[in-house]
Amino acid sequence: MVRTITVASGKGGTGKTTITANLGVALAQLGHDVTIVDADITMANLELILGMEGLPVTLQNVLAGEARIDEAIYVGPGGVKVVPAGVSLEGLRKANPEKLEDVLTQIMESTDILLLDAPAGLERSAVIAIAAAQELLLVVNPEISSITDGLKTKIVAERLGTKVLGVVVNRITTLGIEMARNEIEAILEAKVIGLVPEDPEVRKAAAYGKPVVLRAPNSPAAKAIMELANFIAGKPKKKVSAEVREKKREGALAKMLRIFRRR
Ligand SMILES: Nc1ncnc2c1ncn2[C@@H]1O[C@H](COP(=O)(O)OP(=O)(O)O)[C@@H](O)[C@H]1O
Ligand SMILES: [Mg+2]
Repeated sequence: MVRTITVASGKGGTGKTTITANLGVALAQLGHDVTIVDADITMANLELILGMEGLPVTLQNVLAGEARIDEAIYVGPGGVKVVPAGVSLEGLRKANPEKLEDVLTQIMESTDILLLDAPAGLERSAVIAIAAAQELLLVVNPEISSITDGLKTKIVAERLGTKVLGVVVNRITTLGIEMARNEIEAILEAKVIGLVPEDPEVRKAAAYGKPVVLRAPNSPAAKAIMELANFIAGKPKKKVSAEVREKKREGALAKMLRIFRRR
């Protein structure tokens, strides 16, 4: 079964493109056949992060009916396949975002995981990108405005029938002023599946046009994104021994008793 995952957020600048590009590379490194599509055609920068700018045929050309999708798929770093959006303003004018779903259906014939870098906000092109995928990965920063904006995106996704795969909290610092994971989960009513720290290696890697998971694989952000990739790809679960299971059950029972005794 092909998986299609849209990486979206409320506001721009939360780190969608960074997460999409690096998650794609990380999943490719785990041996998956991954295609990343830059669906953010007005603010395209996926190709910059991946060091793939200036390619002759882009998604813009495909959405304008000027090229076939197979002409716009390139092999990028780590073996990930990439469909760049293209940065020309003229191309943007001609591109028809309504064609995106058809284009994605064609890509699905030749890949296992399709990752979409969605435009920010809830304009038409963002809604099209969210509706076109089966799953949504919501990228937020650990601050209330980012989370309430993310909540709107999540609600729209659910209305469109796109399943929420989980939340990635990006740019976590150690300042101690940020929202905690459980607070974020309570507001969004969704599971946090990735915690990516603020990491200077991310900006450095972007400046060199090389994804951080390849340029600095031991950096904290790269490790967090690799972990996220493992989670999404579904790492084989460790078998829990009967003994451990029994202990866990005891733990739960003891907790219940404690609660009852308190009453
Ligand atoms: N974890 C991080 N640590 C440091 N800088 C980050 C991190 N994630 C993203 N950035 C930086 O934040 C800026 C916005 O990220 P980007 O991925 O382009 O966001 P979006 O696609 O949501 O607009 C970029 O300059 C990027 O390098
Ligand atoms: Mg972006």
